[in-house]
Formats: sequence, structure tokens, C-alpha cells
Amino acid sequence: MHISDLYLVNFRNYKEQRVVFDPGINLLIGPNGQGKTNVLEGVSYLITGKSSRIKSENDLIHWGDKNFFLAAFFEVNDRQLKLESFYEPGKKVMKINQLACKRLSDYIGTVNSVSFSPDDLNIVKKGPNERRRFIDLLIAQIRPSHITLLNAYIRVIHQKNTLLRTEKNLTLLKSQIQAWNEQIIDIGTKIIRNRIEMIEKLNKQCQKIFKNIFSDDDLLVLHYYALGKKDSSEAVNHFPELLEKKMMHEIERKTVLIGPHRDDMIILLNGNDTRMFASQGQQRSIVLSLKLAEMEIIYHEKAEYPILLLDDVLSELDEFRREYLINYIHLSSKQTIITMTGADDRVINSHTAVYQVLNGIIRRK
Ligand SMILES: Nc1ncnc2c1ncn2[C@@H]1O[C@H](COP(=O)(O)OP(=O)(O)OP(=O)(O)O)[C@@H](O)[C@H]1O
Ligand SMILES: [Mg+2]
Repeated sequence: MHISDLYLVNFRNYKEQRVVFDPGINLLIGPNGQGKTNVLEGVSYLITGKSSRIKSENDLIHWGDKNFFLAAFFEVNDRQLKLESFYEPGKKVMKINQLACKRLSDYIGTVNSVSFSPDDLNIVKKGPNERRRFIDLLIAQIRPSHITLLNAYIRVIHQKNTLLRTEKNLTLLKSQIQAWNEQIIDIGTKIIRNRIEMIEKLNKQCQKIFKNIFSDDDLLVLHYYALGKKDSSEAVNHFPELLEKKMMHEIERKTVLIGPHRDDMIILLNGNDTRMFASQGQQRSIVLSLKLAEMEIIYHEKAEYPILLLDDVLSELDEFRREYLINYIHLSSKQTIITMTGADDRVINSHTAVYQVLNGIIRRK
């Protein structure tokens, strides 16, 4: 699959810009602060309906304007497809081939992409939030109904939290908690099962890739801790008892303490937690493995590679890993949009489309 034509209006530092992409490698070159990342963010927002860099979509509107508009043509399984996205405060419209989608789950997964930027190091370095977001977005790209589950789950947690904070009568509180717990178990089990399945797939791919980019002797293992337990399949079978056990504790703390919103995916390198023990370079190689594993998983599901969006990552990798990634993007039929501050002869060949990005204006060279 690939993006062929992108149109940005009042998006970040772009007033009005059209970019025609090649199906192969597209290189965006420009000094700092010119709008390279913003293009990738536009593409990724169009595809996923989200941006991980923002708190509110208002931040995406070109300063001083009232709305933004994005549109692009894609080719997916030899079919042409148009995605559009309009936003102004209080109104968000996403369209596939002119038809407005009511829910994000109707939209996400139509086109697939994998983004990789220096910020992705947070998947390894930071807290469970980042890892949950990574895994949930990957599941959603393949199984959009996962978004519906997550949204329903967040609503239930929100309501249970409100109850825990406001209900003073203990008997009443306990019986209402039980009612919410039934929903938590129902939706939460589905979320956990989706994650278990995806982490199993990730493990298979990741381990192979990590051995290639690091060393044959190193073993990378992703381990899902569901409901605070090491054996997540076992944990999910005992979800009702685990919730029951936590009830008094939740009443004391006035907050929901157990469920998939608190789960984590621990990343182990040779048995050690990489968050604490992996070197910066190892952490980068782990994220690279995760991202390339994502490419393979989506490829297996969709029979086409997703669009690979690489934001300024080559400069962060050492020589060997850089070479590996450059070979990877040159191999097989996948579209890559890659940003850099300066030209790199190893990325550019006769098939590479090169664009200059300067102060919110993009010109093909
Ligand atoms: N909502 C907005 N409206 C207008 N300009 C914006 C908006 N949000 C960000 N910018 C501007 O966009 C520019 C940053 O663009 P971007 O992050 O794409 O740069 P970049 O080319 O990727 O730079 P670097 O090489 O440093 O990563 C900054 O100059 C910033 O001030
Ligand atoms: Mg940038």
C-alpha cells in the first residue's frame, strides 16, 4: 500500500501544500524546525485518526486559523482510496471515499502505517502507558473493534471511579461496584485476550529481528503482565476473584486498582528488564525491532506492507543498525517516507524521490 498524493491545509506550519509521493523511498530533507515531522504527523493522523504528539487536536491547527483539513489518495490492494480529515474545535469529520465515518473504529485500519521517531524510545524507557498505547494501536490497525472495546472500557472505569469517590453508603457502594465489575470483566477480558494474542505474534517476529540487528546470543522477550500476574492467561481466567479481592482496597483508595488499564508489557533482554538495564543503544535496537516486527505482522494480515514513516531515526542509530535499516527500506516493495536534516548518499539512489522542506513549503528536487 502507498500514499500517492497528500494535501495539507492549515495543518501545523503548512498553509496549503500538496505533495506527490513515489511508491518507493521518499526523502524529506531540511534544516531543523522547517516542517518535516509535521508532514509525517499529517500522514499518520490521516491514517490513524490520532497523533501521539498532541493533547488536543487544536494544536494541529495552523496558528491563527480556525480549522485544518487533510486529504490523501492511497493505493491499497490495487484499489484507489481517498481519506479526508477535517477538524475545528467541536467538530471532527473523517471520510473514506467521501463517506463520513461515525466512529474511529470504522476508519482506522483502512490504510496502515508504522511510524518510528526518536520519541519511540519511550516505549522502552518510560512507564506502562507508552507500551499499552503501542500494543493497542497495533491491534487496532488490524482489528478496529479493539478501539470500540477500549472506549467502552474507559467509560466503565470512569463511571466506577466516580462511584468510588461519591457513594458514601457502604452496602450500596458494594452492590454497585459488583455491577460495574461485571462489565469490567466482560470488556476487560476481551482487551486482555487481544493483547495476549498480539504480544505472542510480536515476540515471534521481534526475537528473529533482534538477533539479526544485535546478536545471535541475545534473547529479547516481551512479557505481558495482566492484572498484576506473570501468567496473563491464568490471570484472565481468575478476573472475577482478583477484582473481588481488591474491592476493599479500591474503596479505601477511591479508585479502580486492577484491570487492563493498569497492565504492562515488560521487555526483557536476556532475562533483564530493559527499562532499567539496557543501554541507550540496546534500547534503540529494541524499538527498531518492535517497529520492524510491526511491519511484518501487518504484512501477514494485509498481504501488503504498511507505509513506513521514519522521522529522523538514521542519525540516532550506530553504523551497523543504520546500514541494516537502509538495506531494509531498499528491500521489497514498501513505501517509506523518511526525514533527515542532510542528504545521505546511501538512502538516495535513482529511485529515491527527494524533497526540500523549508519553512512550511515542500519542493521536489
Ligand atoms: N500549530 C502550528 N502552527 C504553526 N506552526 C507550527 C504549529 N505547530 C508547530 N509549528 C511550527 O512547526 C515547526 C516545527 O516543524 P517540525 O517539527 O515538522 O520541524 P522539523 O523539520 O521536523 O524539524 P527538526 O529537524 O528539528 O525535527 C516549528 O517551527 C513550529 O514552530
Ligand atoms: Mg522533526
